[in-house]
Amino acid sequence: MIEALKKLEQEAQAEITQAADPATLESAKVKFLGRKGLFTSLSARISEVPPDQKRLAGQEMNRVKTALETLFSEREKVLKASPGSRTKRLDPTMPGTFYPPGSLHPLSKVILEISDIFTGLGFAVVDGPEIETEYYNFEALNVPLDHPARDSFDTFYLENGKLLRSQTSTVQIRVMEKTKPPLKIIAPGKVYRPDATDATHSFMFHQIEGLMVDTGVSFADLKGVLFEFAKRFFGSDAKIRFRPHFFPFTEPSAEIDVYSKTKGWLEILGAGMVHPNVLKSVKIDPERFTGFAFGMGVERMAMLKYGVEDIRQFFENDLRFLRQF
Ligand code: DAH
Repeated sequence: MIEALKKLEQEAQAEITQAADPATLESAKVKFLGRKGLFTSLSARISEVPPDQKRLAGQEMNRVKTALETLFSEREKVLKASPGSRTKRLDPTMPGTFYPPGSLHPLSKVILEISDIFTGLGFAVVDGPEIETEYYNFEALNVPLDHPARDSFDTFYLENGKLLRSQTSTVQIRVMEKTKPPLKIIAPGKVYRPDATDATHSFMFHQIEGLMVDTGVSFADLKGVLFEFAKRFFGSDAKIRFRPHFFPFTEPSAEIDVYSKTKGWLEILGAGMVHPNVLKSVKIDPERFTGFAFGMGVERMAMLKYGVEDIRQFFENDLRFLRQF
């Protein structure tokens, strides 16, 4: 009996490993382990085994049965996973996996649109680091250590003595260190300030800096460029006005407002003629060259253009909001 079981096991093993597809394997399973299969009929013959060998024969029966069952299920798994098997063959009529198309964030769109307008006016788009030194964020921009204006550009200081830039004006210095006039650039990017978050404030927001330096650049050029920008961004009937203001890095300086029917005059950017001290700090001769600079808040522009009431909506990743753009 034990001999017969061993022989049956070997035959079954051979057929299992040779079965090349699930159908062949299934018929082998019926042949050996089925209700009328070879194993069943062989084990019925246990009654013929002499009583003193019955126990051993019984044990062998169980062992062979479990072994064969394991072999069958393992071979089944292998055949199912292999690409040649019937169940896995490519069915080109099946519907594909659908990935919803993404789209640009409204702030990215506004940055691209503004960049487009300025490249159309001959400006190059550059960027600069968000982790900065006091030198680039303040000193080179004519804001000395004890200057009261430092308070108005509240800043996140890092443990290594560096800081998160609180304005994109840093890029003015980085550009002028490397490139001598004539130059016309804008620099979009993130800035950081330790402000409490509310409908109009966020500890991180975006600015676009602008800078033009050449011989004979005047305040009229600044006005012309910003007026043209406002018309292209807000529409041909856009109105802007200049109010005198103070910035340490420009002289004279102005704040510029744009008129909106619903909200009246709204401040959109700061600007002015580049301060001679700023030019000196990058070794550009202020007697020979003049320039203008400006800085605008991107969220502010986006809120005005799209009628967004709360700056936090830009950063909450709520698709119901984002899908509208
Ligand atoms: N950096 C200023 C701010 O963050 C904005 C600004 C004002 C930029 C005047 C300029 C400028 O380039 O000329 O509030």
